[in-house]
Amino acid sequence: MKIKAVKKRLSVQAVQKNVLEVSEDRYRRLFETAQDGILILAANTGKIKDVNPFLLNMLGYAKKDILEKKLWQIGAFKDAKASKKAFLELQTKEYVRYEDLPLETKDGHKIAVEFVSNVYLVDQKRVIQCNIRDITVRKEAEESIQRSLKEKEALLKELHHRVKNNLQIISGLLQLKLFNSKNKEVIDVFKQVQERIRVMALVHQKLCESKDFMSIDISEYINELVNELILAYGIDRKKIMVNVNVVKVLLKIDIAVPCGLIINELLTNSFKYAFPEDRKGEIAISLSSNRKGMLEILVSDNGIGFSKGFNIYKVKTMGLRIVIDTIQTQLGGKISFSSAGGTWFKLTFQS
Ligand SMILES: Nc1ncnc2c1ncn2[C@@H]1O[C@H](COP(=O)(O)OP(=O)(O)OP(=O)(O)O)[C@@H](O)[C@H]1O
Ligand SMILES: [Mg+2]
Repeated sequence: MKIKAVKKRLSVQAVQKNVLEVSEDRYRRLFETAQDGILILAANTGKIKDVNPFLLNMLGYAKKDILEKKLWQIGAFKDAKASKKAFLELQTKEYVRYEDLPLETKDGHKIAVEFVSNVYLVDQKRVIQCNIRDITVRKEAEESIQRSLKEKEALLKELHHRVKNNLQIISGLLQLKLFNSKNKEVIDVFKQVQERIRVMALVHQKLCESKDFMSIDISEYINELVNELILAYGIDRKKIMVNVNVVKVLLKIDIAVPCGLIINELLTNSFKYAFPEDRKGEIAISLSSNRKGMLEILVSDNGIGFSKGFNIYKVKTMGLRIVIDTIQTQLGGKISFSSAGGTWFKLTFQS
């Protein structure tokens, strides 16, 4: 009976030893073959107790150069002060992570690494495991993407700047022709073209000032456009109140320009026709998103309204044709209008 019990205990011990060996084996294999650098430090002293081949290869050191040294005594961790600080931090926090740490290989080559370390207990002793990943290639790729993004942004900015300048040059040429003309019809046509050029030039100016050179704050743009038109038409704001209410939303050029053109046409119409013979009145312009997430432009005045039987879809004049074509063809949206107690236009489209 006694012999049986001894045998049983021996076989349990053998199994336990075997389990330990298998586990040690697995750990070793992981440690030796890991494709990240691994350092094991004694938590109380900071001395390096083990280092895996991947890290030795990464830094160009032999194992004997590193074992039993403190982290900040190895040339790779050049910044001894920072390494000491990191070690102290680790002792208190038990987890430290540096996303981008500069290291130096034995032959003086600079590399960037991601450094993650944490503390745990082995045989009642605290050890620190540091995982070190070479991110030099990733960092270089990121820097190259950043550089190329900066170049593209600079190009876009330059492009918008030139388009704006060229539009202003065309406007200037028209102005020269305008001085020579006495024909009212010609003068009117030139002025209208100049206005439409201004709408586009202002978008490019706003794009130059924007963060990404791709989209503009439509609220800033519309407010500025309205102020320019008020000045150009010599509107006395005491007689004609102009209320602007535009949501602060970023829009791309292909939406911003059509919005500008539509508001330009409808607002100038209100200026020109709604309040004849010095009448007083109000104009309201708004741009907002509705419950379905569509954008909605509203332009209304409380002026004389359209003449009886006027059909906006049958007009031959350019202004309203531009509005209808822009909303239907360019923006794929809808237009509704009313002429009771003034004029009222609602344009709805997907942004
Ligand atoms: N807010 C308004 N109040 C009263 N009448 C208007 C209003 N808007 C437009 N109209 C009338 O509708 C007509 C057509 O407008 P539209 O903008 O198409 O042409 P226009 O202003 O005469 O010329 P263009 O805009 O091409 O310079 C105007 O001539 C005007 O009689
Ligand atoms: Mg018009």
